[in-house]
Amino acid sequence: MAEKIRCSAIIWASMVVILFAPPFVVSDDRIPVPPNKAQVASWFNANVKPLAQRKDIDPPLVTAEKFKKVIKVMKDGKGHFKTITDAIKSIPAGNTKRVIIHIGGGVYNEKIKIERTKPFITFYGSPNNMPNLTFGGTAFHHGTVDSATLIVEPDYFVAANIIFSVSISS
Ligand SMILES: *[C@@H]1O[C@H](CO)[C@@H](O)[C@H](O)[C@H]1NC(C)=O
Repeated sequence: MAEKIRCSAIIWASMVVILFAPPFVVSDDRIPVPPNKAQVASWFNANVKPLAQRKDIDPPLVTAEKFKKVIKVMKDGKGHFKTITDAIKSIPAGNTKRVIIHIGGGVYNEKIKIERTKPFITFYGSPNNMPNLTFGGTAFHHGTVDSATLIVEPDYFVAANIIFSVSISS
């Protein structure tokens, strides 16, 4: 009798485990982002799961996303910095946190370089008032590769709602 009770308890326990096991979901980072902008939202919902459900994420990235920091760049001086260059300068080498740089609207005439020692930086603009990061760098003055308006050396850089442009002067 005791044996029978223990046995059914085990069966019940395993049923409970099965019932409450979370659905097994895996994100697939191998499916490329569709070029058609209208399909991006459904691609995102199908392929990018919340952090807690994702597997095999680089531990330093998990830590970085846990300890976020936001700094603001506003041309009118109402943010922490007026230039993106100064905001990047304020981030220490060996940075381990996600640093979200909120960039207000307007044209930023800056040649920006993020050094290899500063990973986990995000440039974030408003979709209704996107900042325009522009520079007239030429191969003559900077060399072809270094003439870019933005050079990003470290891993885990993200940009959203930002216009990157080249201003050509004749
Ligand atoms: C960004 O600024 C540059 C320089 O003023 C300008 O040539 C370019 O048209 C602007 N781009 C957009 C999309 O506003």
